[in-house]
Amino acid sequence: MQNEQTPLMQLKDINMHFKKPGLQLGSKNIHVLKDVNLDIYPGEIVAVIGESGCGKTTLGKIITGLFRPTSGEIWFDGKKVSGLFDKKINSYAQIQFIQQDSYAALNPVRTIYQSLYAPIKTMHRKWKKSQIDERIEELMSLIGLQPSEQFLTKYPHQLSGGQRQRILMARAISLDPKLIVADEPVSMIDVSLRLSLLNLMKELNAKLNMSFVYISHDLSTTRYIASSGRVCVMYLGEIVESGNIGDVIQTPRHPYTRALIQAVPIPDPRFKGEGKLPLKSMGVGSLESRTQGCAFEERCLYSCEKCFGSVKYVQTETASVLCNNLEAVPSHPIYKTD
Ligand SMILES: Nc1ncnc2c1ncn2[C@@H]1O[C@H](COP(=O)(O)OP(=O)(O)OP(=O)(O)O)[C@@H](O)[C@H]1O
Ligand code: SF4
Ligand SMILES: [Mg+2]
Repeated sequence: MQNEQTPLMQLKDINMHFKKPGLQLGSKNIHVLKDVNLDIYPGEIVAVIGESGCGKTTLGKIITGLFRPTSGEIWFDGKKVSGLFDKKINSYAQIQFIQQDSYAALNPVRTIYQSLYAPIKTMHRKWKKSQIDERIEELMSLIGLQPSEQFLTKYPHQLSGGQRQRILMARAISLDPKLIVADEPVSMIDVSLRLSLLNLMKELNAKLNMSFVYISHDLSTTRYIASSGRVCVMYLGEIVESGNIGDVIQTPRHPYTRALIQAVPIPDPRFKGEGKLPLKSMGVGSLESRTQGCAFEERCLYSCEKCFGSVKYVQTETASVLCNNLEAVPSHPIYKTD
C-alpha cells in the first residue's frame, strides 16, 4: 500500500564499505550495505530483521548519524543531511539511538540523575535546574521507575538490565526526538522484563507519535512491537523484502524470508510450517564473498541463470521483493488458514 504522507526520513541508495581489519596492504574493503533505500514515516514503527552480521547495526548508525555512508543520500524532515557533523541542521538531536549494550551506553561514574541531566542541559541551555528536575521526574514517571529518588541516586551497575534499558529509553526521549532507533533493545534482558519494555515503546509510539526503528534478529518480539507496522528483512547488507509485517510473516515471498520464518516457528496455532527448511545449503553467506548477482544464490532453491545478473525489486500486492525469479518461488502462506 502506498503511504501518502511525507517521509520523516529517507535513505536513498545507501552504500557502506568498511576497511577489512588487519594491516595487510591492498586488502579489499567489505561492502556492508548495498543500495539500501528506506523511507520512515512520522509515527511509524519499522522493524529491521536479519541474521547476525547482515548490517543491521550499521544501518542503525547511519540513520542516527553515527556513521557517514560511503555513498547515498539521507533526507530528514525534507532536508538533505550529511551526518553528525552537519552543523547547519540540528537534525540529529531529533533522532536518538538506543544501543543494545546498556552498560556501555551509560557512564559508570555518573549517577542516573547526572546521565539524564546532562543532555537536557545541553539541549536547553537556558533552563533552570528546577525545570530540568521537573522534566526528569516526568520522564521517570513515563518509563515507570517510581519513586524516582530510588533510582536517580544510583550508578548504572546498581540497576538491573531492564532498569538500565528504561533509563536509556528516558534519555533518548528526553530530547523529544521524532525518531528513535532501538538496536536489539531487549535481547540482553530477562524474558519477563521484555514485554514491559516492548509495551513501553508501543505506548510512547502511540502517545507521543514517535517513529521507531526496531532492530532485531528475534522474530517474535519483532512481530509484537511492529504488529501494525512494517518490516524490512535484510540479507548480507541488502533489504530483500519489505512490507506490512502481518503480510510478510503470513506470506513471505523472498526465499530467504520464507526460510527465516520457517526456521523460527511463531507460537500460533495456525503455524504449520513445512518440515524441511527450503534451502539448498545450510552454509552461512558472507559479505566478503559477495558476487555480482543475487547474494542469496548459494542457498536458494529457486536460483537460475537470471540470478547471476543485477537483481531488481519486484513490487507484489503486499511487499517489495528483491528477486529475479519470483515466479518460481512459492506464494502460498506459511500460516495456513484452514
Ligand atoms: N566499524 C567497523 N569497521 C569495520 N567493519 C565493521 C564495522 N562495523 C561493522 N563492521 C562489519 O560490518 C558487518 C555488519 O556488521 P553489523 O554490526 O552492522 O551487523 P549486525 O547485523 O548488526 O549483526 P548482529 O546481529 O551480530 O548485531 C560485519 O561484517 C562487521 O564485522
Ligand atoms: S534472485 Fe534467484 S537466487 Fe536470488 S532469491 Fe531470487 S530466485 Fe533465489
Ligand atoms: Mg548489531
